Amino acid sequence: MPKATQDKSDQIGGAAMEGGGFYNRHSAMQAAGISLLLDDWEAAVRSTVLGEGPIVIADYGSSQGRNSMAPMRIAIDEFRARACAERPIQIVHTDLPSNDFAALFTALNDDPASYMAGANNVFASAIGRSYFAPILPPKSVNLAWNTWTLHWISGPVIVARDHAFPGFSQDPSVVEAVEKRQREDLTDFLKSRSYELKPGARLLSASVGRSQGTTGWNWIGDAFWGSIEDLGREGLLSREERTAMTVPVNARTEDQLRAPFGSTGHYEGLKLLKAEVLTVPDNTWATYLANGNAQQLGTSHANMVRAFSGPTIANALSGRADTAQILDQLYARLAARLAVAPQLHEGKLAVIVVEKS
Ligand SMILES: C[S@@+](CC[C@H](N)C(=O)[O-])C[C@H]1O[C@@H](n2cnc3c(N)ncnc32)[C@H](O)[C@@H]1O
Repeated sequence: MPKATQDKSDQIGGAAMEGGGFYNRHSAMQAAGISLLLDDWEAAVRSTVLGEGPIVIADYGSSQGRNSMAPMRIAIDEFRARACAERPIQIVHTDLPSNDFAALFTALNDDPASYMAGANNVFASAIGRSYFAPILPPKSVNLAWNTWTLHWISGPVIVARDHAFPGFSQDPSVVEAVEKRQREDLTDFLKSRSYELKPGARLLSASVGRSQGTTGWNWIGDAFWGSIEDLGREGLLSREERTAMTVPVNARTEDQLRAPFGSTGHYEGLKLLKAEVLTVPDNTWATYLANGNAQQLGTSHANMVRAFSGPTIANALSGRADTAQILDQLYARLAARLAVAPQLHEGKLAVIVVEKS
């Protein structure tokens, strides 16, 4: 087992996504990014060496599962076309222990888009453990999917006093510390996956990116911090609570993704097949252009932000009895701020495809 990763499995930086299926209902932005990945995913699926025994697909950082349905369905259909109908396919969704796994299993049962609908000999299961250490047996995974998770930084949280997103802090020591931790996170993640992947197996990983000097998140990120500061000015949040509202996420550039692989393109038995930063289309903007409804646009983005940041923000309130009301006020404020002057929100998505030697 890779030594460097052994101690990190319980060092959890952020909280999981907003529960009660909220993330599933408000992650269309992430789904839009995933639609850009499906050609590479199909190529990875086609290249998969099936060998003997159950075919194992790992979905690292699945959250509540809805955005995994399409890629898993693609893999199942291709594998069924290549292997006999009786060959078991095991799909293992992983996430943090605090993830809303009930929403995941409900979606697997009830969502009309569930890959389980009409599937035979497909076995879905889940693991609640951080992926910065091996969480599956060695050489057990035929194919691996990982979307919109690797920008979450392992703990303890590197606090920014002047922004909700530490990478946007004006304090260079914060940005430096975040980037250092992210370098370690990437290598720990890769080492752990290398341990788990079968020879020839591919991993596609996509997370928040930066290219041409931007992540695409300045408008929404600054409005989010502005909303937190608004509630502070109104006496609803203390300075300590606002400071604790650091969401431990940060973007990576293409160079940062490539760094572990160096000039050889190889790292820990993994070969880098692709690294690029894509721009995610903003479907909310298209809706706004069609209907001119700024409040709807603001609410849609605010729900998207709440879906990934709500539990982190709630934790910063340390059990205050009015936590639910504060969260409602905060995200309503964010929606209102965004509705004042709607903008196009085109976030960046940093993608790598690797293959186990
Ligand atoms: C934005 S959601 C992405 C969900 C889904 N993959 C998608 O593409 O929509 C990020 C997920 O990563 C999970 N996550 C963050 N850090 C993790 C870690 N160290 N180990 C496992 N999951 C992690 C979070 O709990 C959350 O469910």
